[in-house]
Order: sequence, then structure tokens, then C-alpha cells
Amino acid sequence: MYHTKTLIGTLLFILLSLTLLLQSSLSPTLISTSLHKSTNLFQPTPSSIPNIVHFVHLVGSKQTTSLDLPFRQFIAIYSAWYYLKPSNIFIHTDIPDNDIQHKIENTKSPYTRAIANIPGVQFKYHAPITETSTGNTIHELPNQSDFVRTDVLQHYGGIYLDDDAYVLRDLSPLRNLPYQNIVGRQGGGQICPAVLLAAPHNKLMSAYHALQDRIFDGEWQTHATTLLTALVRDFQNPDGQVLVLDQETFFPLSWMHDDLVTLYGVNEHSVVDDDKVGDNRSTPMENLTEFVENFYLQGLRESWKRDWRLSYVMHGWTTSLTRDLERLEEEDVFGEFGEGITLEYVLAGRSNFAVAVGRAVRHAVERGVLDHVGNMSTVFGGGEEEKGGELRSLV
Ligand SMILES: *[C@@H]1O[C@H](CO)[C@@H](O)[C@H](O)[C@H]1NC(C)=O
Ligand SMILES: *[C@@H]1O[C@H](CO)[C@@H](O)[C@H](O)[C@H]1NC(C)=O
Ligand SMILES: *[C@@H]1O[C@H](CO)[C@@H](O)[C@H](O)[C@H]1NC(C)=O
Ligand SMILES: *[C@@H]1O[C@H](CO)[C@@H](O)[C@H](O)[C@H]1NC(C)=O
Repeated sequence: MYHTKTLIGTLLFILLSLTLLLQSSLSPTLISTSLHKSTNLFQPTPSSIPNIVHFVHLVGSKQTTSLDLPFRQFIAIYSAWYYLKPSNIFIHTDIPDNDIQHKIENTKSPYTRAIANIPGVQFKYHAPITETSTGNTIHELPNQSDFVRTDVLQHYGGIYLDDDAYVLRDLSPLRNLPYQNIVGRQGGGQICPAVLLAAPHNKLMSAYHALQDRIFDGEWQTHATTLLTALVRDFQNPDGQVLVLDQETFFPLSWMHDDLVTLYGVNEHSVVDDDKVGDNRSTPMENLTEFVENFYLQGLRESWKRDWRLSYVMHGWTTSLTRDLERLEEEDVFGEFGEGITLEYVLAGRSNFAVAVGRAVRHAVERGVLDHVGNMSTVFGGGEEEKGGELRSLV
């Protein structure tokens, strides 16, 4: 009798567990609300990556120089606003609040002002991090910037973008997945920290922030890419901690010379009118018959154009671009757009870069956001004495 009761009890328990399991797999939201208070056994991690964008711009000892941001930075920030419609775009900077307005008014770059006028953009003071807690000096701005990045991400959560990470489509389908962190691989397979999505106060990001401080050895990679790649392995198992996306998602192509040429190189307009590659066919979901009938393998078409449809963000590898500039110039990669990433270069649409960022930039042009740029551009980067200098539009 006693045994029967236990057996029935056990069976009931199993049945109940199965029901819950089934329910949880069918309807995650339902189960999470009903079980939320009592237990988190079946609770899928709710997504809580806020729609806030973070850029970091440090000036270090150059506090007195004017804040002359290049066009490519405008493209990155405008694209983030255009595709993401975030509640805030923070530009974390070591320029004090009482100085920033003055700098915006007195800049030689029309793009600094254009950036400041993008809705939601807010320059936000962040105290410089020049030393690890073990007393190692962090000399260089890129390294200091890495520390600001993890600090703001673990605190606010949101979307961190390097200043040369160009958003190509809305990220909310990713943000709404039940993961605390979303990261992407770069060429070679490592996790690249130039684009990071994170929920505030999550464990992986907090560990990344804390360990970066301990592990910093002055090398470029150790505390950033190497550490993040290692941590993603460690946090792979706990449910919902981290989703790893493939290279194409955030870091298509790479920093290698040939890839830079593929990305930035100016081409002749194709004879085939392939402006619509990928856009012209009915999608398989609309009409499968039509899709199958009209299908062609893109690889078979003669075109320099990449298909960007799997990329949510495109990283521009500016550091490598700058380093490689001499060779790229020798090979005349920018053609008649010798200045690099200018408005004319983008509007011409003759490089993969230009095609990728074109829609956002055209939107800015149509809205008149760049109207004052024409007059300023002669001052900004056009003058002979500035050729190759600091005001070059590329750098
Ligand atoms: C900082 O980063 C640069 C590369 O961005 C690297 O060359 C340098 O050695 C790093 N070290 C320190 C101590 O800042
Ligand atoms: C795109 O559509 C137009 C009109 O339907 C058609 O004439 C053209 O051939 C199509 N282009 C491609 C690349 O399929
Ligand atoms: C799909 O496309 C085919 C071929 O163009 C057409 O005959 C058919 O009516 C379409 N089906 C739907 C549901 O629109
Ligand atoms: C641009 O310059 C021209 C001539 O120098 C001037 O007439 C025009 O008002 C300027 N436009 C803007 C937007 O400043």
C-alpha cells in the first residue's frame, strides 16, 4: 500500500515534470512568468539587452586639441541611429562635460557637429583608466579604451561598437534572443570584442571587466581578444550566458591586405545591372515556386559585389587600413577618391564598403544632415598642408 502510494506519487511527479518541460519548450514566456517566483528550474534566461549604443572616444593628453572627427565616424554613428533607433547613443569620453560643447562649436571638422546633432547622441564623461589595480600603467589610448568598454557594458548593458563598426541592419532580432551576451567570431575564429551585445550586470561581462584588469600585460591582444575568447568557452555552458555568431555576422572579411582591397577597393560600375543583387528576387517565403524558378547561384555572376545579407555589422579594420595605407595607395585602391572614405566615395557606390553603408549615408544626405559639409570639406582635409596629415579623412 505504502509502495503504491510512492509509486503513484513518483509517476505524478514525472508527469508533472514532463508537462512543465513540454510547456517550457513550447511557450517560454508563459512558463517563465508562472514559475518565476517559486523556482528558476525551468526559467529561460530572459533577454534584457537594452537598446543603448556605446562608443568610446578618448583623447588622453590631447585635451587641448580640437575634436575633429572623421567622416567614417559619422557613418558609424549615423548607421547605428538609422538602423537601431536606440534610446541613447553614448560616446564615452575623457573630455570633461564643461569642455565638450566648446569643442563641438570650435571643431574644424563638419562631421563632429553632424555627429553631435544625431538624435540620442550624448557625449558622456568617463574618468580615464590609466592604471590597472595591480599598478601596471596603461599607456596607450586603445588599451584604455578597452577598459572603458567593459566598464560601461557591465554597468549599463547594451550594444558596444568600435568607432569603425558599421551597423548594416536592425539588431533587435538578436537582442531579443534569450542570451545575456551576444558575440561574433572574426577571421581565424577568435571572438572579437569590437562588437558586443550585453545585458547589464551579467556574469560573463563582469568577469571580463575584472579579469582584464588582472591579465593586462601591455600586449594588444591578451586582455581583449584572447581573454574574451577564453571566457566565452568558460561561460558557454550556463544557460543563456552567451551566443556565439559566425564571422559573417559582425566581422565579414578581415584585416588582411587582400580583404581590405575587397572591402575598400574602387571598382568600375558593373556592366550587369546588379545593384539589386539579392533584392530583386521574390523571397522564398513569399512565393517558393517563383523563388525556385528564378534562382541563380550568385557565385556564377560576374561581379565584385559581396552579398551583405548575413551581416548585421561590418567592422572596418581601420587600424590595419591605416597601417597598410602606403601599399594600398601604391596599388591605387581608392582610385580617384584618393582621400579615402569621403562622401563622394560612398555616394559613388563603387566599393563593397560604399554599397554596405550607402543606404544610411544616402538617408543622411536626403535629410539634409550633411548640407553644411560641402563648404566645410575644403577646410577639412582638402588643404595641401593637411594631405597625409592628421586631418586625412581616412584616419
Ligand atoms: C597598448 O596598445 C598598443 C596597441 O594598440 C600596444 O602596441 C601597446 O603595447 C599597448 N600597451 C600599453 C602598456 O598600453
Ligand atoms: C530584376 O527585375 C526586373 C523586373 O522584374 C528584371 O527585368 C530584371 O532582369 C531583374 N534583375 C535580376 C538581376 O534578376
Ligand atoms: C507564385 O508564382 C507563380 C509564378 O510566377 C504564380 O503562378 C503563382 O500564382 C504564385 N503564387 C502565389 C501564391 O502568389
Ligand atoms: C556655402 O558657401 C557658399 C559660398 O561660399 C555660400 O553662399 C553658402 O551660403 C554656403 N552654404 C552653407 C550651408 O553654409
